[in-house]
Amino acid sequence: MAVGIFDSGLGGLTVLNAAQQRLPDVDFLYFADSAHAPYGVRDAQNIYELTKAAVTQLWDSGCNLVILACNTASAAALRRIQEEGVPPGKRVLGVFVPLIEALTERQWGDNSPPREVEVKHVALFATPATVASRAFQRELAFRAIGVDVEAQACGGVVDAIEDGDLILAEALVRSHVDALKRKMPDPQAAILGCTHYPLMEQTFQDALGADVQVYSQGALVAESLADYLQRHPDMIGEGAGGYLTTGNPARVSDRATQFLRRQIRFDAA
Ligand code: DGL
Repeated sequence: MAVGIFDSGLGGLTVLNAAQQRLPDVDFLYFADSAHAPYGVRDAQNIYELTKAAVTQLWDSGCNLVILACNTASAAALRRIQEEGVPPGKRVLGVFVPLIEALTERQWGDNSPPREVEVKHVALFATPATVASRAFQRELAFRAIGVDVEAQACGGVVDAIEDGDLILAEALVRSHVDALKRKMPDPQAAILGCTHYPLMEQTFQDALGADVQVYSQGALVAESLADYLQRHPDMIGEGAGGYLTTGNPARVSDRATQFLRRQIRFDAA
C-alpha cells in the first residue's frame, strides 16, 4: 500500500523523510525525475508535461494519492492537472497549502475567508519558475490580508545540490539571502519554497539571523498528510513502496544515501 511522492530530483526526500517518520506504517513510492532536473529553469508547459507523465506513472503503479513534493511542479502544473480531471479514485496534492496554512495560523484544510495574521513581512526563497508563477502569493491571498512578500529566485542552488556540490550551494544561498535583504532588510519569516532547500536550512538560518523564523516544508507536509489520510484512508492505495528515478539509479542512490544518511536504493523508472 503506497502513497506516491514526486520531485524533479532529490529535494522531495526532505518531505519523504518527514512523512516516513510521521507515518511509519504507510509505504511510499518516491519518483525522482532526475533526467530532467532542475525543473526550476523550465517553462510552465514543459513542467506540466513532465509532471503529468510522472504522476500518471505513480497512479498506474497503484498509488491513489500522489504528493507533488516539488514547489515548482505544484506552482506550474498542479492546478492544470486537477482542473483537467484526474482518474476516478485518484488524487494529486501539492506542498504550498500546508506551508501557508501554518504561516497563517490555520487548521489543516481550513478554507475560511482571508484574515489579518501575525506575520507581516515574509521572504520567499524558491526556484525561478516558482517565483515567476506567483502561485505562493495567490495561495497566501486566499488566506491572509496585508502580508508583504518579497520573493528571491535562487538560481543555481538546485543544480549544486543535485551535483552534490554543497560548498557551491552554500555560497549561492548566502548571496541569495544578501540579495533578498537588500530588498527587504527585516523579514519576520522566511519560506524555503523549494524542497531542496531544507538540505541547506542551517545556511539559510545563519545568513538570515536567529530572529527570522525559517519555515521548511517536510514536517508541515507530513503533519497535514497524516490528517488527510485519517480523513481519507482509501487514499493509501495499493502496490509496494520504493524509489524510482529517470536518471542513473546508481548515481542517484549515492546522492540520496549521502543526504539522508541511510542506505537508499533507486531503481530505473
Ligand atoms: N525541489 C523542487 C521544488 O521544490 C524542484 C527544484 C527544481 O527542479 O528546480 O521546487
